[in-house]
Amino acid sequence: MKKLTFFILLILSTSLYAQKFEGLALTPPMGWNSWNYFGCDVDEAIIRQTADIMVTSGMKDAGYQYIVIDDCWHGERDNLGFIQPDPERFPSGIKALADYIHSKGLKFGIYSDAGWKTCAGRPGSRGYEYQDAMKYAEWGVDYLKYDWCNTEDLNAKGAFMTMRNALYAAGRPIVFSLCEWGNNNPWEWGKDVGHLWRISGDIAVIFDGEEGHGTWTSWGVLQILDMREGIRIYAGPDHWNDFDMMEVGNGMTLSEDRAHFTLWCMMASPLMAGNDLRNMSQETREILTNNEVIAVNQDPLGIQGFKYLKKDELEIWVKPLKEDELAVCFLNRGMATKKIEFNWEDHFIKDDFVHKEYKFDQTEYQVRDLWIKKNIGTTKKSYVSTIASHDVKLLKLSPVK
Ligand code: GAL
Repeated sequence: MKKLTFFILLILSTSLYAQKFEGLALTPPMGWNSWNYFGCDVDEAIIRQTADIMVTSGMKDAGYQYIVIDDCWHGERDNLGFIQPDPERFPSGIKALADYIHSKGLKFGIYSDAGWKTCAGRPGSRGYEYQDAMKYAEWGVDYLKYDWCNTEDLNAKGAFMTMRNALYAAGRPIVFSLCEWGNNNPWEWGKDVGHLWRISGDIAVIFDGEEGHGTWTSWGVLQILDMREGIRIYAGPDHWNDFDMMEVGNGMTLSEDRAHFTLWCMMASPLMAGNDLRNMSQETREILTNNEVIAVNQDPLGIQGFKYLKKDELEIWVKPLKEDELAVCFLNRGMATKKIEFNWEDHFIKDDFVHKEYKFDQTEYQVRDLWIKKNIGTTKKSYVSTIASHDVKLLKLSPVK
């Protein structure tokens, strides 16, 4: 009887006082995830080499921190129910891998699923949440991506809260990344549960289009950009809309990769590279490590951008930044090159959500092109430019003092 009372009290206390670990993602998390390029074909050599290159390529200095192994690292559960890695792919064990990643000054992430099996059919966490969380803490995990396959009748908020509580009880601060593809409006309840939540099904290596896979569809960059209007009000420091891991370097054109990266920065999305870092081109590296573009994503106010204007296939997206600065992105969604002439003084940009106004006829702003890293004048003169198909221009405006 005493034992039972103790057990009930323990469960009550862990769930009553459980919460997410606060303050782990005050700016959108940055890192690398194995899925987009390697799929199920992951092993410890790839992960170690990726950690090495994260440092030598300058990505770590640019702000990338997390190395996340996605699906397929799992082996069987042992006879007590504890999860073990696949012994062939991860013969040294996960703890040794985490130690290696930490020795490089990086952080380590892993993947599981709220259902009884992951999407690729490995053991899921359903019914094992507390045991799995204990293992992750013991291994030194810093980030958990938690998927939604094989969940049948589970309630999404409840299932993600169970894992949140289990992580909290295990005691190691772990960023909690919810991946239920936006099916259950996670932006409405995710803030207290995790640090980021996916808003879409999987991304594809397509700029504009989609790819059918029988029972599901993967989406192009523009399709994800357009998918959920109005959810920017749910994002902010420590709770982000996740536009999915990036496909930069995985086969789109240079313009498309640049536009994809810029848009993810404008949307304050987590920036998880999804390419093979070991074989990345100089161009890909330059996109992923442009510190001025990354600064737009990592701005401490954490405001997700919005579409200010659309004219045919040209769109203008804006993102308020600290110190009354503003990022402005001109996006050419069309197939033809576009010439633009934009007279700032004809415009008045207003963001009702964060109560900010940019009146160009009253305030003069310095204009900086963040891809070429040059100041190009002020808002006193029109911005004249040519934008290639599926490309962007990204400007930062700073009030002239
Ligand atoms: C999907 C998820 C992908 C990847 C994959 C692994 O559900 O959206 O990002 O994690 O499962 O099987």
